[in-house]
Amino acid sequence: MVFERRHLAECGSTNTEALNHLREGGGALLLSAGRQTAGRGRQGKTWLSDDASLTFSLAVELPITLDLAGLSLAVGCAIADALDPGATRIQLKWPNDLFLDGAKLGGILIEAVATPTGRRGVVIGVGLNLQPLPEGVDRSAFASGHAALASLDPTLTATRVLDRLAPALAAMLADFESMGFAPWRAAFERRDLTAGRAVRVGPLPGIARGVNERGELLLETAQGLAPQVAGELSLRLETTP
Ligand code: BTN
Repeated sequence: MVFERRHLAECGSTNTEALNHLREGGGALLLSAGRQTAGRGRQGKTWLSDDASLTFSLAVELPITLDLAGLSLAVGCAIADALDPGATRIQLKWPNDLFLDGAKLGGILIEAVATPTGRRGVVIGVGLNLQPLPEGVDRSAFASGHAALASLDPTLTATRVLDRLAPALAAMLADFESMGFAPWRAAFERRDLTAGRAVRVGPLPGIARGVNERGELLLETAQGLAPQVAGELSLRLETTP
């Protein structure tokens, strides 16, 4: 998959810009921003982003019939494999979080929109911390901790990371369009942060037992194995990683 690349010094939210781009009939686009003034996270949360983070959205059109349940996991795998090929430090927390050495490195927000062509417009928004929090910042606001790519490689800049991620995401999307999530299942399981651990999916407690071929979380409950679709569900670890 080939996409145009654009960079904005500042915008409200790259996801909002990318959704508007698709609504207006624009083609595949990778839009990055130096700073967002109204960045959005999952579940209506705000997402802070400035030059200490990498902020971008990928706008693509995908077939209406394509099952998107596992897309955020495949995106996470493509990013993690590009930055940490040995799978020694980056882990993925179903359905959309990236962790580095046990603390949150970044997140993925996927949104869909109807486009004039009748295909489904999909925006994949990614926020990754590049630099650690400055001294004096209230860390209690970061419930999952805060990790930064600088501790993986201090020479990484936003541009270098994006140059590495762009081809990885293009290749992943081409494969995902024809094969869906199934080929990524093993890659996800290599990095599955919650495997075998006590979790709560929304109100439902259980033990996380990996994912199925659609990317649904397999939650072992008192009633048996219950597949969980990501949607707007949140997953909480019963103990911190
Ligand atoms: C999460 O962990 O809640 C997901 C965060 C996703 C943030 C990214 S930053 C780029 C894109 N634009 C947004 O407004 N949000 C996503």
